Amino acid sequence: MASSALFSPPLSLSRTSTISAPRSSKDSIFLPRGRLPSLRLAAASAGGSPPPPAKPFLHVEDLRAVIAETDQEILRGLNLTVNEGEVHALMGKNGSGKSTLAKVLVGHPDYKVTGGKVVFKGENLLEMDPEKRSHAGLFMSFQTPIEIPGVSNMDFMLMSCNARRKALGVPELSPLDFWSFLYPKLQAVNMDPKFLNRNVNEGFSGGEKKRNEILQLAVLEADMAILDEIDSGLDIDALQDVAKAVNNLLTPRNSILMITHYQRLLDFIRPSYVHIMENGTIIKTGDVSLASQLEKEGYRSLSAA
Ligand SMILES: Nc1ncnc2c1ncn2[C@@H]1O[C@H](COP(=O)(O)OP(=O)(O)OP(=O)(O)O)[C@@H](O)[C@H]1O
Ligand SMILES: [Mg+2]
Repeated sequence: MASSALFSPPLSLSRTSTISAPRSSKDSIFLPRGRLPSLRLAAASAGGSPPPPAKPFLHVEDLRAVIAETDQEILRGLNLTVNEGEVHALMGKNGSGKSTLAKVLVGHPDYKVTGGKVVFKGENLLEMDPEKRSHAGLFMSFQTPIEIPGVSNMDFMLMSCNARRKALGVPELSPLDFWSFLYPKLQAVNMDPKFLNRNVNEGFSGGEKKRNEILQLAVLEADMAILDEIDSGLDIDALQDVAKAVNNLLTPRNSILMITHYQRLLDFIRPSYVHIMENGTIIKTGDVSLASQLEKEGYRSLSAA
């Protein structure tokens, strides 16, 4: 069976690049993302000019997917819409299908879509190959980041950054220019430059891998990032560094879907919406208080049954 570890996408694929400037450092401390919808409402009810309509980024409708090898159904009619500028959290018991959803969205070959539709920035995502999804601005950090023996981290980031720049018609960066582009991002993630000379993720500790994922996101800054348990295995300092780096990347024009088991992450990266997944579908959506309820009462209080 093809395991996810064997999913070694083209270098340009798994990481998307862009080119927008990060937020200024004064914006960097844990932004109150959850306030976005209420600000829209407040502006509308105050009689000011109506807020611009939310622009759907990712629209998933009745998505069904099976494991390609066994035809076992994992996603069972999932619906989700993430608008531009929103942060969503996806929670749910082990085995409920969260990582499968993330991998299906980036086109992982272990899964076959059997129904439903996915529109990303107005285009049919399911018709795109994984590389095109990446160039369209979709990024996923894996729950267990893959190692790429024989490819240095620096080369990987430069190649994937330039691959998307090329796809977007933006001039590619020389190694020297790339270094100037990269250095502040290394500092933002608080990562030692020595990790750039090592092969991608090879021999990295769990926490180092997660930092490296966020460095890739910082370098490649996608329009939509799916972050699968970026908080797992991080000590508290690393969690804060990573959360701060993610917050620095947020603009009103990009979105995040973060998969997590713990409210702790949501204290640092505030989501607009929290979804609970069970048995391949989203059974409940709410605000961040849903995560607090979960922390106090467990999944039993939220179960669909
Ligand atoms: N490639 C695969 N081969 C076999 N079973 C799979 C495969 N991918 C997913 N599954 C099964 O599908 C179910 C959902 O897995 P998934 O990894 O999506 O869960 P999850 O919600 O991310 O769980 P966790 O919180 O533990 O990370 C699990 O029972 C898992 O064993
Ligand atoms: Mg998972």
